[in-house]
Amino acid sequence: MTHSASSARAANSARAAAPEIYDVERYRADFPILHKPSRGKPLVFLDSAASAQKPRQVTETLKSFYETDYANVHRGAYALSERATARYEGARETVRRFLGAGKAREIIFTQGATESINLVASTYGRKFLEAGDEVVISHLEHHSNIVPWQMLREEKGITIKVVPVGDDGEFLYDAFEGLLGPKTKLVAISHMSNVLGTVMPAKRIAAAAHAAGAKVLFDGCQAITHMPVDVRDLDCDFYVFSGHKLYGPTGIGVLYAKEELLNAMPPYQGGGDMIASVTFEKTTWAPLPAKFEAGTPAIAQAVGLAAAIDYVTGIGLDRIAAHERDLLLYATERLATVKGLRIIGSAPSKASVISFALDCAHPHDIATILDRSGVAVRAGHHCAQPLMQRFNVPATARASFGLYNTRAEADALVLALETVREIFG
Ligand code: ALA
Repeated sequence: MTHSASSARAANSARAAAPEIYDVERYRADFPILHKPSRGKPLVFLDSAASAQKPRQVTETLKSFYETDYANVHRGAYALSERATARYEGARETVRRFLGAGKAREIIFTQGATESINLVASTYGRKFLEAGDEVVISHLEHHSNIVPWQMLREEKGITIKVVPVGDDGEFLYDAFEGLLGPKTKLVAISHMSNVLGTVMPAKRIAAAAHAAGAKVLFDGCQAITHMPVDVRDLDCDFYVFSGHKLYGPTGIGVLYAKEELLNAMPPYQGGGDMIASVTFEKTTWAPLPAKFEAGTPAIAQAVGLAAAIDYVTGIGLDRIAAHERDLLLYATERLATVKGLRIIGSAPSKASVISFALDCAHPHDIATILDRSGVAVRAGHHCAQPLMQRFNVPATARASFGLYNTRAEADALVLALETVREIFG
């Protein structure tokens, strides 16, 4: 090889190895809503933990699907229905790949994470849990991973054990291990807190739960948007998330479950498409995944979710995570300059959600004043009242950052908070 050929090759490989710059403005251009003013000011959208905005790639997929390929699925012997079915099942395959699951039939489409958890409680829980069995949750859970287990407790007499949370919002792993015992049948834990941003040690949790003979469910609603997730690497039994927080449509969510569990679980709802045969005497169930998808599913929403997954994987979840990490650190530093502001939750393992309180104003007032500056944050208990009680606050204000947010938006938040201080003293 000549010297010039080898240096050209070295230069090429250095170019290939150089990380591509995260061009946030390029991604922002995909989200038309971010360029529409709010209250006459540039919109600073810091509420993606509640629901993320949608890129054109998703909205245009929905529009073109309805205009060119839409029909009911699994039912028509005509070309349009075959195309719609292929798109719907293609979406399932996209989710399978995204989660690292082994089989597409382990992916069940639901309305959202809430329905996914209710499905597990109503089927797996009802069939396999008995009075005295224990379900371990944590103090960091969203109501959707508390209430279904309480409903099961009413019905079956199970016991709910709660992993405490530390003063910094950290998951107390040793306390978790101490709760595991022969009666533990299920560990149901959020992969990432929607309030404090704490990221749980999911792999360790799953290994410890399995060693105790329990199954593991992770609520991945927040984690799925902030980090790569591989359900086989985590070795969880159930993983749930919602499409709308992942830049996809509302009304669609996912339940991943290991095939042997889905086979052992009774159906959730009865109706069309989930049966093999029906007579008035006896009905038999369709094979997976149809057994858990009664009725006409959210067809276009599933196709839209696949477009959202293609969008985020096109950018790269690890690159999104690095960008958001930078925003988290920058915003945390900037917020520390606001007099009387207290950040609630500073666990070492934390993603880009920041809950805070101001000594001079209620969180709802904070959110209302910020809104006048075009800054959208959520205020309230964030569907996590036990966590509010743990930190002795009625509510918090919460800024959550997504793939499209910028350092300048963190600055705008801080500036608007100074206005709150001026108003409330
Ligand atoms: N669970 C959503 C949130 O955290 C709605 O805001």
